Amino acid sequence: MNSIMKVQGVHKTYNGRSVPTTALRGVNLEIEAGSFTCLVGPSGHGKSTLLHLLGGLDRPCEGSIEAFGQRLEHMSDAELARFRAHKVGFVFQFFNLLKGLTVAENVEVAMMFAGLPAKEQSKRAAELLESVGLGDKMKARANELSGGQMQRVAIARALANDPDVLLLDEPTGNLDTVSEGEVLGILDELHRQGRTIVMVTHGAEVAARAQRIVEVRDGRVSV
Ligand SMILES: Nc1ncnc2c1ncn2[C@@H]1O[C@H](COP(=O)(O)OP(=O)(O)OP(=O)(O)O)[C@@H](O)[C@H]1O
Ligand SMILES: [Mg+2]
Repeated sequence: MNSIMKVQGVHKTYNGRSVPTTALRGVNLEIEAGSFTCLVGPSGHGKSTLLHLLGGLDRPCEGSIEAFGQRLEHMSDAELARFRAHKVGFVFQFFNLLKGLTVAENVEVAMMFAGLPAKEQSKRAAELLESVGLGDKMKARANELSGGQMQRVAIARALANDPDVLLLDEPTGNLDTVSEGEVLGILDELHRQGRTIVMVTHGAEVAARAQRIVEVRDGRVSV
């Protein structure tokens, strides 16, 4: 198996303002190159936490996460930021677009961090938006779009720096059936093209499209 990510013995406790909450208690998981994995399980059992750790958005309290041969827990904050910018693309349930910017600008912003020249940025943004069926919406403001369109912009943005892995947290949780179908169609196509995908979902039908379903329950993983 050609694993691009390897999670070993990972624990995560949040030291919130009130009582500490243990979200993950000894997770082991490997993600194979080119695979399509769905994380499922009850609310509050650690799915988003695990996804965030995989993408270097947060750090484990214990255990190791190896991604593309590098140990995330050994990285400085700056190295982790570089890892996020170049290796992973995130898509969230609530889109997280910059509402006042245009659709094209939302995708270009992601490329600014990676240092691509401005001309290249607009060319690539146009290509990506075309590929998610939004070629005619590039100049629209993000807040003028439907939910399904917003999520397609978020996918284009996540792909901006050609990431090795796409991490999605309930990307269809706020979409109607038609928009959900469109988003899942795009993900299927990306998977066919060889992109590695890890997606959190509550929908059984959504999970059924994945190659592999991993259940997160009580902060542990059963495959
Ligand atoms: N930033 C945080 N600070 C404190 N506790 C947190 C934080 N994020 C998550 N938690 C807690 O960690 C546990 C796991 O949360 P997580 O968001 O990973 O669950 P989830 O499986 O994604 O749930 P859902 O399906 O509802 O999105 C929960 O008990 C939650 O309250
Ligand atoms: Mg969640």
